[in-house]
Amino acid sequence: MDNTLLNCLTKKDISNIPIWFMRQAGRYLPEFREIRKQNPDFIKLCLNPKLVSEITLQPLKRFNLNAAIIFSDILMIPYGLGQKVEFRKEVGPILGNINLEEIIKIDSIDFVQKLLPVYKGIREVKNNLKEKPLIGFVGAPWTLLLYMINKHSPKNNFNFNEINKDKFLINRLLKKIEEIICLHIDKQIEAGVDIIQIFDSWAGLLPKKELPNYCYIPILKIVNHVKSKKIPVICFPKGIGKDYIDFCSTVKPDCISIDYEVDPQWIKDKLKDMPIQGGLDPKILLSDKELIKKYTEKYLNIFKDYPYIFNLGHGVLPETKPDTIEYIIKIVRDKK
Ligand code: CP3
Repeated sequence: MDNTLLNCLTKKDISNIPIWFMRQAGRYLPEFREIRKQNPDFIKLCLNPKLVSEITLQPLKRFNLNAAIIFSDILMIPYGLGQKVEFRKEVGPILGNINLEEIIKIDSIDFVQKLLPVYKGIREVKNNLKEKPLIGFVGAPWTLLLYMINKHSPKNNFNFNEINKDKFLINRLLKKIEEIICLHIDKQIEAGVDIIQIFDSWAGLLPKKELPNYCYIPILKIVNHVKSKKIPVICFPKGIGKDYIDFCSTVKPDCISIDYEVDPQWIKDKLKDMPIQGGLDPKILLSDKELIKKYTEKYLNIFKDYPYIFNLGHGVLPETKPDTIEYIIKIVRDKK
């Protein structure tokens, strides 16, 4: 087993820098686009264990990465709760109306039954990939709540007061989401994942005074749950800027994944020795080799002799050339 990533997360041995990429299985790979073309229904694709396994392993066939991440989506939770979820080309996810009473009624048996193929996919990956750790993941309560209520990406239309209007709905839904996230984590662990990452992709939209209520406290509950299972947990509260420090001191994850707006030197100085992951702006990967090398080395130099996992500050963009991923891995591997 390649222990580079687990040794870094537990700070046991940091002599090798582990590397993996958020969205390492995805649209920048021609072999993914080929499968996607034949599978226009994205949810159905995520419920096909054979294809889930094949797509998860695609980047590992090409590149010398230190981990696989299961091919799935954070929106499988709303799907499992009975909300309609669709992915439209050029638009992104579109969710159906929520019926709170129906959602509350979904019990763990119904949910697990609906997502059984996801867990089967994880088992399939584990059977085909014994030598590398497998990362499972969930969306954080706030990011899932936001998609469920807003029903599409909040990129262009976000208004916190609008989302926060119906307190009764929010409180009931948030509680249900927290429970189901823990269940989804348990089932992924049972199926064989070695690490959990929590994606709070829209934490940066929260007003500062709401961060404890919607981001820190709900994630802390999930993190404590994962820790009780003796599995390392990585948190990615994207876009919260200087509040990364409060996040870490409250939530205490095993590792913090930073976005491209976080100053790496600043956070390293503040965090003492909590393992740090990522940071490099995915847009840099669309520029020329010289710039890519310069920025990759910037992160490597700052985090020299620190428990650091090489990754990006968000997912690999679809326009990225696979050769660029290869090139970055080489730079990281050559650094000693
Ligand atoms: O990292 C990996 O390789 C594992 C697979 C993975 C996907 N989604 C596959 C996917 C992971 C970890 C996710 C997480 C996810 N999904 C997040 C959190 C991370 C982030 O990006 O902030 C979010 C917010 C989602 C919701 C989601 N899924 C959106 C907004 C979209 C459409 C826009 C986009 O980025 O592609 C998706 C679709 C999706 N999920 C695709 C893939 C490969 C693209 C599907 C396609 O159109 O082919």
